[in-house]
Amino acid sequence: MRILSGIQPSGKLHIGNYFGAMQQQLNLQQENECFYFIADYHALTATPDSSVFVESSLEVAMDYLALGLDPEKTVFWKQSDVPEVTELTWILSCLTPMGLLQRCTSYKDKVAQGLSPNHGLFAYPVLQAADILIFNSELVPVGADQKQHIEITRDIAGRFNNTYEELFTLPEEQIIKSVAVVPGLDGRKMSKSYKNTIEMFEPEESVRKKVMQIVTDSTPVDQPKDPEKCNVFALLSLFACGDELSEWEEKYRKGKTGYGDAKKRLAELIIEYFEPYRKERERLQKNPERVEKVLEEGAKKARLVAADTLKKARKAVGLEK
Ligand code: ADP
Ligand code: TRP
Repeated sequence: MRILSGIQPSGKLHIGNYFGAMQQQLNLQQENECFYFIADYHALTATPDSSVFVESSLEVAMDYLALGLDPEKTVFWKQSDVPEVTELTWILSCLTPMGLLQRCTSYKDKVAQGLSPNHGLFAYPVLQAADILIFNSELVPVGADQKQHIEITRDIAGRFNNTYEELFTLPEEQIIKSVAVVPGLDGRKMSKSYKNTIEMFEPEESVRKKVMQIVTDSTPVDQPKDPEKCNVFALLSLFACGDELSEWEEKYRKGKTGYGDAKKRLAELIIEYFEPYRKERERLQKNPERVEKVLEEGAKKARLVAADTLKKARKAVGLEK
């Protein structure tokens, strides 16, 4: 299957990104034709600091490579190195009703968080549709907050196919329910924009400190606690093996543990989990040229596919014969 996904270089990647999106993306590499990219055009909608923008993309690329993205199997590039996608965005924009974008919750959320309501931010889903459609992607592995963007993509693809010709594949999202929303330190969705994240590769001491800050209720140590309502338990369930998790569940329910103990164990599990990748991440950090090379090679491969689809789209709408 043709699989595609993107991630914005808008800050350090965190365990919500990992379990919600990256882990499934990396697992899909073995059996499928995967196309993954760093969505820097999308990040531009939030006006990033121009002096560190390129580095942020490189950091995300290092995270992916350290976690096991295999550039021999997967095409991996930076979105802005494939400018064909912006030309297709314009063609698709001319088919996209305003109402479709006005209903988009992520635009409203971002404006509510204080982002400037620029046109790029409003048109964000059309660029995302172009990303997906230009590669004729069948499946898009993402976290739950991206569902509406994939629905909009299907809508736009259908309009194009009905108006001109059957050019685009209608993609499906893949959202893993158990990790669709990983909670952050304050119990809201873990997100860079809420500053409630635990990064995958942050220093060990900082992981321990942050885990101790996770918000819990004030049930005393010896009283029964409901694991289903606990942010610490939700995170434990991502890292602990089945037997250990059952033990924690029993200790919670029987009032045999305090949140402090669960937090200490959680911090150790997080550190252990990312330890092997951390070493690889440090190696890549020392060799950014290698990472740049991977992205350049990826962009060449991606451009071949994108240029072919774009040509077909230009012909279909009558821009060329
Ligand atoms: P952020 O909210 O931190 O800015 P992004 O919007 O860049 O994260 O998300 C990148 C990918 O990670 C998306 O597929 C998104 O659905 C997923 N993701 C982000 N945060 C979480 C979370 N807390 N739980 C599950 N998936 C998440
Ligand atoms: N909007 C996605 C996010 O914030 C990033 C993204 C851009 C994307 N283009 C995409 C995801 C195409 C999947 C497919 O996470």
